[in-house]
Amino acid sequence: MYKLIIKGGQPLNGVINAAGSKNSALPILFASILADSPLTLKNTPFLSDVSTTLRLLMDMGSEFVLEADGSIFVDSSKLSNLVADYQLVKTMRASILSLGPTLAKYGEAKISLPGGCAIGSRPVNLHLKALSELGADIKVENGYIYAQADRLVGATIDFDQVTVTATENIIMAATLAKGVTTINNAAQEPEITDLIRCLIKMGAKISGEGTSTITINGVEQLSGTTYEVCPDRIEVGTYLVAAAITRGKITIKKSDPKDLRVVLEKLAESGANISTSKNTITLDMEGKKPKSVNIKTSAYPNFPTDMQAQFTALNSVADSSSTITETIFENRFMHIPELSRMGADLSLEGNTVVCRGVKSLTGAKLMATDLRASASLVLAGLAAKGTTTIDRVYHLDRGYETIEEKLKLLGANIERVQD
Ligand code: UD1
Repeated sequence: MYKLIIKGGQPLNGVINAAGSKNSALPILFASILADSPLTLKNTPFLSDVSTTLRLLMDMGSEFVLEADGSIFVDSSKLSNLVADYQLVKTMRASILSLGPTLAKYGEAKISLPGGCAIGSRPVNLHLKALSELGADIKVENGYIYAQADRLVGATIDFDQVTVTATENIIMAATLAKGVTTINNAAQEPEITDLIRCLIKMGAKISGEGTSTITINGVEQLSGTTYEVCPDRIEVGTYLVAAAITRGKITIKKSDPKDLRVVLEKLAESGANISTSKNTITLDMEGKKPKSVNIKTSAYPNFPTDMQAQFTALNSVADSSSTITETIFENRFMHIPELSRMGADLSLEGNTVVCRGVKSLTGAKLMATDLRASASLVLAGLAAKGTTTIDRVYHLDRGYETIEEKLKLLGANIERVQD
């Protein structure tokens, strides 16, 4: 097991490149199941969630090659096993994204039911309801979902709640269905648009990307293509907060400022001087203490839940009081007790964190609990006086490519050590 040791207090300064998006790479890798020929994916981030996805695909009969330029060549055109096993699904909930494409291409699929996780119960009922509406026969037995349909048939799907991966699952399933599918109340995250663009390159007929109504005209077959994954807006947002919390100045290249509009607005409100060009973002705190900002998470284009914990860390050392309201996941507050151990003044009232900014945080021994909570602890450690040790770094490795290397490039004093 690895841990991170951070000696805080150093303002971050420098230039880094954004990685490719995790939440875009995962659905696109699963979309390879739909194709009759191989897919080459460029700008894929090196993350444990990507390796888990490749292991799952391999388990099902896919072959893949990691090319010298870092792109992934994946051939999922002839699966020999239509089962997504518990051992892999339990480590990554996004495995549910194998269900739609496998069912659509092969007429059947079996996948372990993902359990709850640290941030809430996270059911998959909306995935299953929508697949039934496309004509699938679904049953849940012994912890597994069994889905069967000779051929899915297009339908109108009205999601009761905005859901990212269910929207993606249904888009993928509908590409090979007979007839037209319309998804109402679809999620509008940039990663969904990225998936749709890739599917269109593969031969799918889809319109409405980036809006809440998506229409898919089913086709007989899809083929592989070469596609470049979009930048990871949550990784970029996390490093921008790292600069803000340490009162530093950083530039992130290969990013996409337009996908981060609300996050950049909140950073500007916290006192950051922000300038952007097409693919570059520069944040300069000009050495100032951050101002407190109120946050309410909600589906895109509003403030992302995946940035909530990082802004809680920022508000912990800000000049006054603020509230952070989480509306997507009921239990996404695992970072609160850990930040409190560093001297943060935080109290939880229902789904709202009341943050009273303190003069400074102090280093402590902490435990990472889930991906974004762990990121907030790293940020707090960078700003704190003294040494912070973060255990269970594997949570961070799910979503941040070589986090300590990137932070070192920005001047942070951070080391990964083995227990
Ligand atoms: C995706 C992202 C995750 C992000 C989240 C919200 C990926 C791989 N993961 O997760 O990083 O935090 O969107 O932006 O892209 N719900 C149900 N039933 C369902 C499905 C969802 O009740 O069948 C609920 C969830 O419990 C949650 C809400 O809907 O309260 C939104 O969740 P959803 O958008 O589905 O999150 P994920 O797709 O799992």
